[in-house]
Amino acid sequence: MPHQLLYGSVAVHTFPHPSDFEILRKSHANNAAAGMTGFLIRTPVHFLQLLEGKKEDIDAAMARIQSDDRHLSLRVFYRGDAEERAFRNWEMGFAGLDDDRLDEAMRTAPENDAESAFALIALMKELSKERHQSHARWQKAS
Ligand SMILES: Cc1cc2nc3c(=O)[nH]c(=O)nc-3n(C[C@H](O)[C@H](O)[C@H](O)COP(=O)(O)O)c2cc1C
Repeated sequence: MPHQLLYGSVAVHTFPHPSDFEILRKSHANNAAAGMTGFLIRTPVHFLQLLEGKKEDIDAAMARIQSDDRHLSLRVFYRGDAEERAFRNWEMGFAGLDDDRLDEAMRTAPENDAESAFALIALMKELSKERHQSHARWQKAS
């Protein structure tokens, strides 16, 4: 059974920022090697990331992510086992989005609350479809 972890954090740099690409490149390389999938969103204020895969691989990625000084105030919205991966075709999707809906949802989302986390994941899926063209190259060949 796959494990999922959804967290949000506050970006240190302005939006967009060249380091966003560096984060994406590293995340993609490390996560794909571990068979993980997921999606990273950068807004003018926040990062929002869903990680999916084996629990121990997610723990290892989170240890790296937590000590990264390009973001602050990391809050875990959800972690737990999932029936199936939400982004099974995405080794690491990425969207840079200036979308008030998302920043507002993140500001008000409680920590460790499955219901509001699933609403955020549904919003991420919707946005990933809207932006499908622009991240096709991060999508797994299937
Ligand atoms: C918002 C954000 C998301 C990140 N997501 C991941 C990730 O999913 N996987 C990962 O390995 N590193 C991620 N990183 C990067 C790590 O913090 C770290 O820089 C990187 O893993 C170091 O990789 P290395 O030890 O292979 O050099 C993220 C960093 C930030 C700021």
